[in-house]
Amino acid sequence: MSETAAANMVPGAKTDEYIAVLEDVHKVYKMGEVEVEALPDVFLKIRRGEFLAVLGPSGSGKTTLLNLLGGIDAPTSGQLIIDGVDISHFNQRELTLFRREKIGFIFQFFNLIPTLTAKENVEFALELSARDGAPSSKDAVELLTKVGLGERLNHFPAQLSGGEQQRVAVARALAKDPVLILGDEPTGNLDFRTGKLVLKTLKEVNEQEGTTIIIVTHNVPISQIADRVLHLRDGAIVEEEVVENPVSPDDVEW
Ligand SMILES: Nc1ncnc2c1ncn2[C@@H]1O[C@H](COP(=O)(O)OP(=O)(O)O)[C@@H](O)[C@H]1O
Ligand SMILES: [Mg+2]
Repeated sequence: MSETAAANMVPGAKTDEYIAVLEDVHKVYKMGEVEVEALPDVFLKIRRGEFLAVLGPSGSGKTTLLNLLGGIDAPTSGQLIIDGVDISHFNQRELTLFRREKIGFIFQFFNLIPTLTAKENVEFALELSARDGAPSSKDAVELLTKVGLGERLNHFPAQLSGGEQQRVAVARALAKDPVLILGDEPTGNLDFRTGKLVLKTLKEVNEQEGTTIIIVTHNVPISQIADRVLHLRDGAIVEEEVVENPVSPDDVEW
């Protein structure tokens, strides 16, 4: 853990139980004279090991919320504790270090490095996440095999289907042993068959490794694979739905 993160550790039981605690978190984007209030005042707790879906129409603040949770952006005000660390006042450099160490991101458009093979993309992430020069205990081949791509190690992104590229992105996210995996519409650019494989992979990671996973979607059936669904409207959480019997990704109809 970086010195800044260590100095911002928040003692107390609630940070052991919850991977994320948001108290009155507010986000305003300033564009010159114009202010856009993307998140008015969010209070939220996310349990360790939870699979959470954030559901809402376009412009409802889903990406804004995810970017705050992952330290891509800082809140305008309020308190944001992630994995026991108060990151509310972190500057960009501190956020970058924090993110690199703890958060796995999966984007709608995969964002793989096109000139590197699947294996090299994952190896690159392993190198970046090596802490204090110590090599990671994880292995790129093992990670890619885990997501079902053991036979695609030397393919470049352009030689892979969208679903396969996204599974490389999942393997890349796992390379750093993240405490939190955040997916911003991870199946938004996939057909339903390949999308299901990606959701299945995420669900397995959640169940087998206990990694907390948060996915953003505007698709109601997909949200039902989660343990809990946050419904967003104009930046506000208008409903928190506990899913009694989460649907298997195999059975999602979309
Ligand atoms: N960088 C930004 N600058 C200004 N306004 C932004 C920025 N990002 C998002 N917004 C605005 O904040 C609101 C929420 O956006 P966003 O979080 O991207 O929603 P969603 O992901 O649900 O589509 C929208 O009104 C959007 O236009
Ligand atoms: Mg978005």
